[in-house]
Amino acid sequence: MSSEEIKQQIRALLKERNGVLLAHNYMRDEVQELADITGDSLALSMEAANTAASVIVFCGVHFMAESASILAPDKTVLLPRLDAGCPMADMVTVEALLQLKAQHPGVPVVTYVNSSAAVKAVSDICCTSANAVKVVDSLAEPEVIFVPDKNLGRYVAHFSSKTFHFWEGYCPTHERLQPDAVRRLKQEHPDALFICHPECNPAVVALADHVCSTSGMYDYCKKSPARRFIIGTEAGILYRLKRENPAKEFLLASPALVCPNMKLTSLEDILAALTSMTPVVKVPEEIRLPAKRALDRMLAIPRD
Ligand code: 13P
Ligand code: SF4
Repeated sequence: MSSEEIKQQIRALLKERNGVLLAHNYMRDEVQELADITGDSLALSMEAANTAASVIVFCGVHFMAESASILAPDKTVLLPRLDAGCPMADMVTVEALLQLKAQHPGVPVVTYVNSSAAVKAVSDICCTSANAVKVVDSLAEPEVIFVPDKNLGRYVAHFSSKTFHFWEGYCPTHERLQPDAVRRLKQEHPDALFICHPECNPAVVALADHVCSTSGMYDYCKKSPARRFIIGTEAGILYRLKRENPAKEFLLASPALVCPNMKLTSLEDILAALTSMTPVVKVPEEIRLPAKRALDRMLAIPRD
């Protein structure tokens, strides 16, 4: 079957099943092109919470489909590739987090959405890269436990007077970007602005002209008068950046910025999922309800 035929069949099945196709900004180009909505983790969570569709086809990684199931328990959430996980999310377990909490009684746990539903369930509030500073600011306590991303945590701590207890997790994809690669590119292209994701190492973040979530990059590059940008996040971001800004140039800061998990989902996988209505991601109620409290508390904070 040609890719055009596969896309047609996906569209027909989405219509028949009252489905919506959500895709993260790191997905393959052809998946982003087909999606009803593309976005960052925060935008996709909000979409899942508010959609009128009965079926959510989540093109992303496992924790994102779990968030959709937590926020929209009456909908069927399909994750076309059940093996699309997030190594950073796997770096924190409930048992280890409970141990850390016991060492710091009364200190709230701020958990990046890149985490399992079970970890969210023992957290006080969630955050994404788009709202992490606001989430931490919203808390009355002078200390926070921040999990699992040490890089995002250290970036947020920079804007806060609170005491942080970090978890030593990280994104292996963003961690591969080294400051030397950025310095070289900046030297070769002195007119270019360097934009990076806060999951990057602090030594890389220190070189950035702007630090933001994936969707923040679309806004920033569109509004900026600059013509050339060095991009420090996963390669999938380039698809929309180039399409929305044909007169501007985007250079990926390193060819290593490819997340293997985000690249798993193909058009064939989406068609197979919609045909068989599997694999379904469903968070059990005893985990869903406490995890939802942490997500709802985050979603109650107004977005800029
Ligand atoms: P955002 O899209 O929220 O910036 O998240 C980046 C990411 O690593 C998702 O896995
Ligand atoms: Fe996880 Fe990093 Fe891949 Fe995002 S880019 S899914 S944080 S490994």
